[in-house]
Amino acid sequence: MTKEGFAHHRPQWKTHLGFVLAAVGSAIGLGNIWRFPYLCYKNGGGAFLIPYVIALVVVGISLMVLEIGLGHKMRGSAPASLAGVSKKWEWVGWWQVILVMFGIMLYYAVIVAWCLNYFMFAVNGAWTDNPGNFFFNQFLMTSSGPFQFGELRTPIMLALLVVWGVNWLIVFLGVEKGLERANKIFMPLLFLLTAVIVIWSVRLPGAGEGIKVYLQPQFERLSDIRVWMDAFGQILFTLSLGFGIMIAYASYLPRKTEIVRDAFSICVINSIFSLFAGFGVFSVLGYMAESTGKQLSEVVDQSIGLAFVVYPKAISLLPAFSREFGLIFFAILVIAGLSSGISILEAFTSALIDKFHYSRKTVVSAVSVAAFVGGLVFTSRAGLFWLDIADHFLTSYGLVVGVILECLVVGWVFKAFRLREHVNHFSAWKLQRWWWDVSVRFIVPLVLVGLIASSLLEELASPYGGYSRLAVVLIGRDWLIFTAFAAVLVSARNWKSEPAERMITHKNA
Ligand code: TRP
Repeated sequence: MTKEGFAHHRPQWKTHLGFVLAAVGSAIGLGNIWRFPYLCYKNGGGAFLIPYVIALVVVGISLMVLEIGLGHKMRGSAPASLAGVSKKWEWVGWWQVILVMFGIMLYYAVIVAWCLNYFMFAVNGAWTDNPGNFFFNQFLMTSSGPFQFGELRTPIMLALLVVWGVNWLIVFLGVEKGLERANKIFMPLLFLLTAVIVIWSVRLPGAGEGIKVYLQPQFERLSDIRVWMDAFGQILFTLSLGFGIMIAYASYLPRKTEIVRDAFSICVINSIFSLFAGFGVFSVLGYMAESTGKQLSEVVDQSIGLAFVVYPKAISLLPAFSREFGLIFFAILVIAGLSSGISILEAFTSALIDKFHYSRKTVVSAVSVAAFVGGLVFTSRAGLFWLDIADHFLTSYGLVVGVILECLVVGWVFKAFRLREHVNHFSAWKLQRWWWDVSVRFIVPLVLVGLIASSLLEELASPYGGYSRLAVVLIGRDWLIFTAFAAVLVSARNWKSEPAERMITHKNA
């Protein structure tokens, strides 16, 4: 095969809608349904929307344009695209996809597996008597610390096998027949089921109180730096930025594409979904507070506790059709989780295909098996601790450092104006230099460096979450170091065909 031939055989989305739905499918995940409403509640209710919208505009939209524009221009996965800028920086792309695929995704898939279990528990109401005891002691059987592994929990392991089976199948079938088709089924279904749940919940008695707590602004909270850190961190996570995902998805776009408008729509749809889902979540909590005669603040919990303890309890209190409500609710979580999971499997797979020209089927199969095996530690009785520590370090540090490097490489090495000109060449909506170049080169990196610095300061004051220093170092810090090391090793290998040759120039129409 000629080098040209390879670039031309790149898979392509069949329809433009297919691309947008796949990107939205990646963005909308467990983070929208649990994390967002909880962060709102914790960080000043409606007032949290101010830092959130600022983060969305300053970091979210500009980075979304950057990632889609870069993938489109370089027609390659994250490592291929960054190598197209400069081989010296290729490792950043590898680090992103390795960190997410063999880090975040390992436990994300386990949470989806829990949701699948809970979907089945909804049928017989297994959690009804005491949801907290059920979740921690009967379901997870959580041990006393991160190094007390105990046995692997069979129900979780079996569900994890199903999750990886589905992920494998969809990505195995390819971009058009797998990812595009799956998202065209998943997304409408997700919107429909969510609408059912929200309309159902807001009519429950006490719903108004719940919504008031969710959105009532407490402006004084905005002086707390942690509120701002949460807003910026949430925007990166919820939009799948710095995961290498949007770059890979954009590399399957045809030449003529409205990059700015698409980036904008994906960001807006994702945030509206979060806001909307929050109405459902808090209405039900309001109902629960009213029917048990408690204050709402007494019933809310951390995000995982909220999803698997508080919410199941609220569901079992519903006056009618509580089983159906539970089924729909956990189906929503499973669908949202699967459509996010397949996006990283694709991003990782396409990186290996770009570099080594392996066959898709071999790569997807090997990676799925490895990820299932790697995820098993999270199905042990120490799984919850591992999940908590890994999540904190990978998302608060790994992802953020990756994004900073990505901005610097594109903004300064490649030059922001060149990517802007590429994007504007194809877009009717034009990027303006005064905000886009300035964001990518200065504002985003500076804001994110500030974010990291302040979390580091907290970290040094006391190890995260009260765990032992040993656990935090071995599970958190070392995970970051190993993935970075792996990234450097892979990027030192030779390319089968030069990354720069796949690039779209304005001449090779
Ligand atoms: N954006 C997703 C969310 O809000 C997170 C996500 C997207 C993700 N792709 C992923 C997590 C791949 C793990 C692996 O939940």
